[in-house]
Amino acid sequence: MYKNDLYLRALKGEIVERPPVWMMRQAGRYLPEFIKIREKYDFFTRCRTPELASEITVQPIRRYGMDAAILFSDILVIPQAMNIEVEMKPGVGPWLPNPIRNQKDLDRVIVPDVTVELDYVMNAIKASKELLNNEIPLIGFAGSPWTILCYCVQGQGSKNFDKAKEFCFTQPILAHTLLQKITTTTIAYLKEKVKAGVDAVQIFDSWGGMLSPADYQEFSWQYINQIIEALKDEVPVIAFGKGCWFALEEMANSKAAALGVDWTIKPQIARKLAGNKITLQGNMDPSRLLSPPSQIKKIVTEMIRSFGKDKYIVNLGHGILPNIPLENAKAFIDAVKEFEA
Ligand code: CP3
Repeated sequence: MYKNDLYLRALKGEIVERPPVWMMRQAGRYLPEFIKIREKYDFFTRCRTPELASEITVQPIRRYGMDAAILFSDILVIPQAMNIEVEMKPGVGPWLPNPIRNQKDLDRVIVPDVTVELDYVMNAIKASKELLNNEIPLIGFAGSPWTILCYCVQGQGSKNFDKAKEFCFTQPILAHTLLQKITTTTIAYLKEKVKAGVDAVQIFDSWGGMLSPADYQEFSWQYINQIIEALKDEVPVIAFGKGCWFALEEMANSKAAALGVDWTIKPQIARKLAGNKITLQGNMDPSRLLSPPSQIKKIVTEMIRSFGKDKYIVNLGHGILPNIPLENAKAFIDAVKEFEA
């Protein structure tokens, strides 16, 4: 179906010549061609305009030839569709002027008709598929319900998401009601994305590692697992939990096709915890892309040998940083393409 289907084959656990590679947040701020578009259009205009979103989606592919594209969009389009205002403030990041803190706030949160409210995402997928021209697969994504709750309650990014945790620990019934509304919306949203043409979906639990193992189970994993169960027969699901190494064993017992791991765990330990049947994705420290290209190539080769070339997708342990030199990103991708078993 695709000229290059390495990524989908790795998700199925098939034997491959070399592992596939892509970078989390690859459609973004380290690219001069992205910055040029950013100068003209604000963030949500870029997300809502299929011509812009699809162009940004393929920019990194044109430059580096990754084995998969990820749709340019954001995890925060979900709260927007649920009637929670979200702004993207330059220099600040996400800004939610009316955070959810009590029953009254929660009452105005809706489970929307995603075919109406998020129609623009589906159009961006169709436009991206056209530009990709059956060369490589397209990844769709959503935030985990817990990570979305973090922004909805805190109202902005945070070092510890204290207000989000306080909400969960002091008003658990409200918290679970909100988490379930987000989960229900996310399932409908990802199903629509599959219909529109994405080949895999990744759940970003960027703030799962903020929780203790017991709280992670209660406030994050059970909802991610609901999403996996609802989608597993339609599309491969990749669960990425930043800082969630403590849950790898349990995550591996789910129906996820693959698990993302960050750089705070040794590949061998991740394999030991997750077992040998599930594909792993990761896990170079994103800051390591600041090392000289020759060093990057060594690290990548070593990483592939440690994870093993099969049931493995080369990636960073979290999103690429804005200040990464272009030739360093290239060294990362090229090292994988040059890999010989
Ligand atoms: O390349 C890709 O990965 C596809 C696009 C993508 C974006 N955001 C575009 C974006 C994806 C997959 C995301 C996911 C996302 N968004 C996450 C989960 C992944 C992670 O990094 O942990 C989170 C937590 C968000 C929320 C968010 N959106 C934040 C915290 C910010 C501001 C900080 C930042 O990274 O700049 C955004 C804005 C955002 N989303 C930008 C991009 C390219 C940068 C702002 C801009 O372009 O004006």
